[in-house]
Amino acid sequence: MRSTPDTLLLTGATGLLGALAVRRLLATRPDISVVVLVRDSGRWGRLALGADPRVVAVVGDVTRPGLGLHPDARRWLAGEVTAVLHLAADTTFSRPLPEARAVNTEGTRNLLELAAGWPGVRRFAYVSTAFVAGRRTGAIAEGAGEDLGAGWVNGYEQSKAEAERLVRASAGDWVVLRPSTVVCDSADSGLVTQQNAVHRALRLYYGGLASMMPSAEGSALDVVPADYVADAVAELALRPELAGETLHLCAGAGAMPLVALLDETYEQWARAEAWRRRAIPRPALTDLETYRLFERAVEETGDARLRRVTQSLSHFIPQLALPKRFETARADGFLGRAAPPVRAYWGRMVAQLLSRRAPEEAAA
Ligand SMILES: NC(=O)c1ccc[n+]([C@@H]2O[C@H](COP(=O)([O-])OP(=O)(O)OC[C@H]3O[C@@H](n4cnc5c(N)ncnc54)[C@H](OP(=O)(O)O)[C@@H]3O)[C@@H](O)[C@H]2O)c1
Repeated sequence: MRSTPDTLLLTGATGLLGALAVRRLLATRPDISVVVLVRDSGRWGRLALGADPRVVAVVGDVTRPGLGLHPDARRWLAGEVTAVLHLAADTTFSRPLPEARAVNTEGTRNLLELAAGWPGVRRFAYVSTAFVAGRRTGAIAEGAGEDLGAGWVNGYEQSKAEAERLVRASAGDWVVLRPSTVVCDSADSGLVTQQNAVHRALRLYYGGLASMMPSAEGSALDVVPADYVADAVAELALRPELAGETLHLCAGAGAMPLVALLDETYEQWARAEAWRRRAIPRPALTDLETYRLFERAVEETGDARLRRVTQSLSHFIPQLALPKRFETARADGFLGRAAPPVRAYWGRMVAQLLSRRAPEEAAA
């Protein structure tokens, strides 16, 4: 694939990972041109990535037939594009399934259909999620296996699993990259520029707003820094020998056991005198069934604040009681490195998070 210069169509460039991947591709591939598909050119402009002459933005939306591209842009892309890197997604865990599907599954279908008609396309790289594994537990192998009948915790996971299936069924050359959850910009800084369900959950427990946490024997949190994922995506997406591979960009063996993670988190919080004075107890670790009873009890209390808390946790937190270990040997082998172990930066990330305002905590 490196024999001729690549023109890459990249979706999701205004997102956390997409923007980093564009930067990384430009820095490491002098021969590459990147066409970014953006919904909002103003948002793209504010990222100041378009100053590089090798980047061109086209306006489009993956949910629209033909991506809603202007006919001129469509004709131009048909003659130019040699590879597609698809990161655009609705990443909200609480989104109802039909809405998640509209962007994540149907958006992928629209992009695949369009790219199938472009003669120069040699690779379709899809950034999925390790959590297509859904409710499965135990060792999760790289490769297919996103739909073994176990079901999913939320519509996001399911819609991404369905999209993977479309990619795998497509006639062209593809690769699927599955990151686990991104929790900070880099292991070195621990900085959090984009908060997600993990951070919201942490804030709720920090505020003592939830008294239980589901868990099971072997529960661990598999999370990754954004720079590891973006670098890996930029490095792997276009490698010809990876045709047909589905790879985990996960902490894997470096995931942090839940109990150790809670120890470190509560130790971190207890360093602040003001928090210690509040004497907030650690949540009781329970099985999922007991946690469900707790959720139901909260529903019945009619306390709107607590209901909001449990509802906001419900789209993510059951994964803690579905212990899984993502295998990463193939991805690590191709990259020549593993993701940083969570233990190496978790404390830093928690400290960084605390140094910022807590809007969810205040609103809860
Ligand atoms: N971050 C993680 O923890 C994580 C973990 C595993 C997998 N992933 C996967 O990695 C990819 C990137 O994640 P991210 O965290 O960078 O996402 P993000 O920050 O939420 O950004 C999502 C991107 O998708 C674009 N997008 C959404 N709907 C679109 C549509 N209808 N048409 C065109 N573009 C659309 C957004 O554009 P606008 O700016 O216009 O909204 C934005 O650029 C996703 O596929 C996600 O599933 C992420």
